Amino acid sequence: MSGERNVDLVALGSLPPAFVVPRRMHAWLIRQDRHGHPLESFREEVVDTPEPGPNEVLVLSMAAGVNYNGVWAGLGKPVSVLDAHKHPFHIAGSDCSGIVWKVGNAVTRWKAGDEVVIHCNQTCGECPACNGYDPMGCDNQKIWGYETPWGSFSQFTLVQGQQLMPKPKDMTWEESASYALDLCTAYRMLIDRAELRPGETALIWGGAGGLGTFACQLARLVGAVPVAVVSSEDKAEMARKFGAVGTINRKDFPHLAWTPNETPERKKQRMDAAKAFGKAFMKAAGTSRGPDVVFEHPGQETFPTSVFVAAKMGRIVICAATTGFDLSFDVRHLWMRQKKIIGSHFAHAEECWRANDLVLQGKIKPCMTQVYEYRDIPKAHDDMMHNRHMGKLSCLVNAPRTGLKTRSELV
Ligand SMILES: NC(=O)c1ccc[n+]([C@@H]2O[C@H](COP(=O)([O-])OP(=O)(O)OC[C@H]3O[C@@H](n4cnc5c(N)ncnc54)[C@H](OP(=O)(O)O)[C@@H]3O)[C@@H](O)[C@H]2O)c1
Repeated sequence: MSGERNVDLVALGSLPPAFVVPRRMHAWLIRQDRHGHPLESFREEVVDTPEPGPNEVLVLSMAAGVNYNGVWAGLGKPVSVLDAHKHPFHIAGSDCSGIVWKVGNAVTRWKAGDEVVIHCNQTCGECPACNGYDPMGCDNQKIWGYETPWGSFSQFTLVQGQQLMPKPKDMTWEESASYALDLCTAYRMLIDRAELRPGETALIWGGAGGLGTFACQLARLVGAVPVAVVSSEDKAEMARKFGAVGTINRKDFPHLAWTPNETPERKKQRMDAAKAFGKAFMKAAGTSRGPDVVFEHPGQETFPTSVFVAAKMGRIVICAATTGFDLSFDVRHLWMRQKKIIGSHFAHAEECWRANDLVLQGKIKPCMTQVYEYRDIPKAHDDMMHNRHMGKLSCLVNAPRTGLKTRSELV
């Protein structure tokens, strides 16, 4: 019977009896005393299955997408997420496809059995920002699976009802789990925050990475001209496949990265590289000016170049700083040429639905390149941490094998 707990533990890969919630579940846990590289910080354990509150939903996680926030959570850097949510353990995972298994008594839009993907924005639903401004301004805004303890690398995950979105019916569990976080982030950055317009050009750092492949596709969809920065020919090919009009290999500019304690000679070397990089952009984009929009996330090493090469009145939209948070740049390039720096963070539910609709309509393709077994979830994060991947990575959780798409195939 729905929601009953008369079963203790069910093996991964087999469905629990319809909508019975096992008392315990399998999960990959991060604990504060073992922060470090993913191969050490992630450990498989069995824990009590959480109970959904009134506005919450328990979802049977079929597959879970890999994001860099799982690497940060494992490392405990720049902060330990366990200090933020105060739970004794952390289950990472901010992307998921799965089956609604139990709904809280205030949830009316979803029911047990619905097949869903999950966006990772949690909000209070009560504050003024949630009720008329922008839910990303919510007093209690949190990223599920990072700032909350019950992410998707476990048999069941606990989310708010408003996080659920329809799963593309003809897409596998693993592919469906791979896209929401990066796609919705790129959507908000380019469409709503930077307001990228038809005919404009965009420089996309990490153009064959998770964010970058979606940024290239979105830019093309609005009629803009994306140029992707990559670090190998394979990645250049991938970025072009997902819509980049041109590519720049950052390895061709070995002196481009900002480094601490620069001497005047080193700074000149970097600025010469930035000028050459700007010319390479113009050639690739077929234009005589810098990018109208720069899509930033590497941060410290690239940010001074981003500000320098952006066109007059250009926008630099940034959502992360993977290479370092303390940014140093020559502000004269910003004010004299009237450029704008725009911060952006994930996306609110309506942006997520619009982005998911583009997938449902077949206009945006997930860029999943690799699927890992449940036992290899730490390895998937290790590969991401060491930049050994392209596009998006996905992991099987309760799906017994790749290629499955619906619950009916499992019973
Ligand atoms: N705030 C948010 O809401 C939000 C949402 C999503 C992601 N993020 C963050 O954004 C960052 C990127 O996420 P992602 O999913 O796109 O990661 P990803 O799939 O690992 O892609 C990042 C790309 O950055 C490039 N890169 C690596 N080191 C670089 C360097 N030193 N200089 C220039 N480019 C470099 C790599 O491409 P090449 O080696 O080919 O250049 C890589 O493909 C992460 O820190 C993540 O946590 C934030």
